[in-house]
Amino acid sequence: MLAPYALGAVAATFTLQKLRARLSLSRAKHPSLTGHSRMARRVAALVPFYEYDEATFFDSDDAPADVAARRRAGFARLTELYRTRFAETAARSAELEPGLSDLQFTSAYRVPFQYSRFVRQRLPAGSLVEASSGVRVTDLDGNQAIDLTGSYGVNVFGYDFYKDTLARGAERVRDLGPVLGPYHPCIAHNVQRLREISGLDEVSFHMSGTEAVMQAVRLSRYHSKRTHLVRFCGAYHGWWGDVQPGVGNPVPARETYTLSELSDVALKVLATRKDIACVLVNPLQALHPNLGAASDSALVDSSRKAHFDRAAYTAWLVRLREVCTRRGIVLIFDEVFSGFRLAPGGAQQYFGVQADLVTYGKTLGGGLPVGVVCGRAALMKRFRDDSPADICFARGTFNSHPYVMATMHEFLLRLASPEIAALYVDLDQTWERRADTLNQRLHEAGLPVQVASMSTIWTVCYTRPSRYNWMFQYYLRAEGLALSWTGTGRLIFSLNFGEQDFREVVERFVRAAQAMEDDGWWWSNEETSNKTIRRRILKELLAHRF
Ligand SMILES: Cc1ncc(COP(=O)(O)O)c(C=O)c1O
Repeated sequence: MLAPYALGAVAATFTLQKLRARLSLSRAKHPSLTGHSRMARRVAALVPFYEYDEATFFDSDDAPADVAARRRAGFARLTELYRTRFAETAARSAELEPGLSDLQFTSAYRVPFQYSRFVRQRLPAGSLVEASSGVRVTDLDGNQAIDLTGSYGVNVFGYDFYKDTLARGAERVRDLGPVLGPYHPCIAHNVQRLREISGLDEVSFHMSGTEAVMQAVRLSRYHSKRTHLVRFCGAYHGWWGDVQPGVGNPVPARETYTLSELSDVALKVLATRKDIACVLVNPLQALHPNLGAASDSALVDSSRKAHFDRAAYTAWLVRLREVCTRRGIVLIFDEVFSGFRLAPGGAQQYFGVQADLVTYGKTLGGGLPVGVVCGRAALMKRFRDDSPADICFARGTFNSHPYVMATMHEFLLRLASPEIAALYVDLDQTWERRADTLNQRLHEAGLPVQVASMSTIWTVCYTRPSRYNWMFQYYLRAEGLALSWTGTGRLIFSLNFGEQDFREVVERFVRAAQAMEDDGWWWSNEETSNKTIRRRILKELLAHRF
């Protein structure tokens, strides 16, 4: 008779425990939509398309007629400038676009969708360049622009550095050519140097940062025999499904927990759950914890925020390291972006925290595509001595391609040279000072723009509520500053920017902001706030949805 009661009690305890674990997981999510991947995907699916036309484009924030007229005149002036200055570049890009899906995507998502088509048709900057030199790139019309794109972070030391590593690397392996399978002997130096730099035992080579992350997670799951990976809210780790559980991935990532960063509750989840194989950290998030990488296509108001607090982030990483060690969770530093940029030894050196696995990519290829995993020997092993059929497979045709190994070889050789070592001296102080200089100039001119910086990685923030901040990217381009398709969301400087180069950036930046201010785009009145802007957009969305 007692048995059913006992069973019931056990079941109730079990359910209660599960419920408690579920609850603490929910509490460890960041309250924003970014922190709730499934919800974000559902909400994204509900967003209807609508757009502004000639009649509504210039006063979508209810600006008075005289302001709208100033905007219209400024826009016409820019249109004329773009039409003449970028004629060839824009025409050739337009020819290319119908057959190049990537270009269609980036062109469409430079600005909020409501404005996108109108702007694309009238301000086509083009996406073709044919030369680089120093800190500049040259388009098909011969225009030189100062490059603030950093080639997605690949360009750490300046384009001429990579031209050199590419040429020398190609020369080194010319006799071998594209032989795959056996390795060119230059790989040995790469392995040795990467072991030293990472402070870890072994290395594996892959073809992109995304693949390196895939392999790091797979190894963690294989060795821990646990299922789930933890990533932090907003952090980018490439486009593989498991690390991109929210918008952008058509299916849910069922074995991913997205937790709040810099959060005690998240640490509690790590300290109690038994299914967590690894934690992925993208050190770049220190600039904007719990927020996605800023892109102007999401710049619907002026609420973009960023602030780098090195001490706070270091303290967080130390606590994370401690809980991962205690719980046997693999701590992965994803240094695909931060590696070699913050310090020669990457974020591990910069924050003084040792990870179990580290991924590198981007610049490490010396100008060619690459992904690298470094790790402790016990974690890197892909088979079990006592279970020969239980392997962790990770082989790709182009892993350790001789040309990539050779350019990486040149990269690592030059990294150890005194000239490159000199670039890291006072790096943060230099770039903090430069950011302060620019901010001071903007402030003195009464312009509603400030930059936030983490060493050479910057983002532009806007201090006056506005729906039109994304227009700034077009004024910056008109002043000869090249931005990537995410616009003012991320500016990436290479370490070879000299004082004169930077002074020019300041002059152009301030001139662009002044022109945008003069053209009335930053108009607002007492009633305008980020909240009123968002409410207005919500109204528009609902009106178009229903
Ligand atoms: C931190 C981080 N991880 C992974 C990736 C993906 O690398 P890739 O674009 O080479 O696949 C990126 C790319 O931006 C990144 O910044």
